[in-house]
Amino acid sequence: MSLAEIIPKKLQANIDNIIDNVVLSPWLTDAEKADYVLKIKALLKQKNAVIIAHYYVDDELQSLAEETGGYVSDSLDMANFGAQHSASTLIICGVRFMGETSKILSPEKTIIMPTLEAECSLDLGCPIDEFSAFCDQHPDREVVVYANTSVDVKARADWIVTSSNAVQIITHLMDEGKKIVWGPDRHLGQYIKNKTNADMIMWQGNCVVHDEFKLYELEQLMEKHPGAELLVHPESPEAIIAKADFVGSTKQIIAAGKKSKANTLIIATDHGLFYKMSQVVPDKMLIPAPTGGKSATCKSCAHCPWMAMNTLVNLYEALRDNTNTIEVDESVRQEALIPLNRMIDFSMQQGILTAGDA
Ligand code: 13P
Ligand code: SF4
Repeated sequence: MSLAEIIPKKLQANIDNIIDNVVLSPWLTDAEKADYVLKIKALLKQKNAVIIAHYYVDDELQSLAEETGGYVSDSLDMANFGAQHSASTLIICGVRFMGETSKILSPEKTIIMPTLEAECSLDLGCPIDEFSAFCDQHPDREVVVYANTSVDVKARADWIVTSSNAVQIITHLMDEGKKIVWGPDRHLGQYIKNKTNADMIMWQGNCVVHDEFKLYELEQLMEKHPGAELLVHPESPEAIIAKADFVGSTKQIIAAGKKSKANTLIIATDHGLFYKMSQVVPDKMLIPAPTGGKSATCKSCAHCPWMAMNTLVNLYEALRDNTNTIEVDESVRQEALIPLNRMIDFSMQQGILTAGDA
């Protein structure tokens, strides 16, 4: 079966879940939201639990994580924070691979997600059997995979990377004379290849959110705001990255925004990031990079449909009932732990992650 056949089928199967969880999720009044927040806070204490959220989930989940001693960050930092934290239960507000990464690193902890239906198009588009067969065709190459993958794909890898350390890890492997099989994100892969000149054979996955940024409309926007800096997540298409003043992970984009001298920032990533960014740089004008325009489709909203499935209601219910726990086969976990620890150790040595991040 070709990749083109696999991806639409898996995505289609997921659409019903998105409709159930997001479109039909209850709209809450402010009083109802406050009531959920109070109940969640009580349960967090009672169950020695902490909330770890990604920047793309709803503002109210991000603020609840921070208010209650939890954490909001990029995927690498979320994993590290959970592994270092003393809580016995981690509530991961994000997508499935983030919960699974936490379980691989902390098997003794209970990992709960508000919903187990929150997937990722990169993960869905990289089934283990097909990916493994692809790797088997290139036995002389090091298998390097993005963290946005299943536990099985991680277990097949020699190295795991995130967008915050990918360029450094591939540079390190090149210094060792290694050639690479890369998966699944073709845009991140192309970005790394352009930066490092590495010899990479690539799986052709993509992020449905970042793939939508449009060059023509971006150029028009940049003409209107000549002093603006463009900050881009590397899951975006090559032509968008080529225009960027800064390319990095979600956490690195926020840090770059803070450092920037520009009064206006154009940001090419999921709009969930604007919540934290507007707190960090309240005086700057923040403009989302265009996803609409002439070639817009119904997907062009710059918001991850799976991240949007995390809500106060399903978080509360999962924590109350101890449901939506992440379970991982122990032998696969042991295999996936090797490249995951390799990435974390490397990131610590390079100062990309520090003990203080946790
Ligand atoms: P970060 O590692 O930059 O948080 O990215 C994760 C992700 O899924 C972006 O789409
Ligand atoms: Fe996956 Fe893209 Fe959603 Fe990130 S934004 S979780 S890469 S689908």
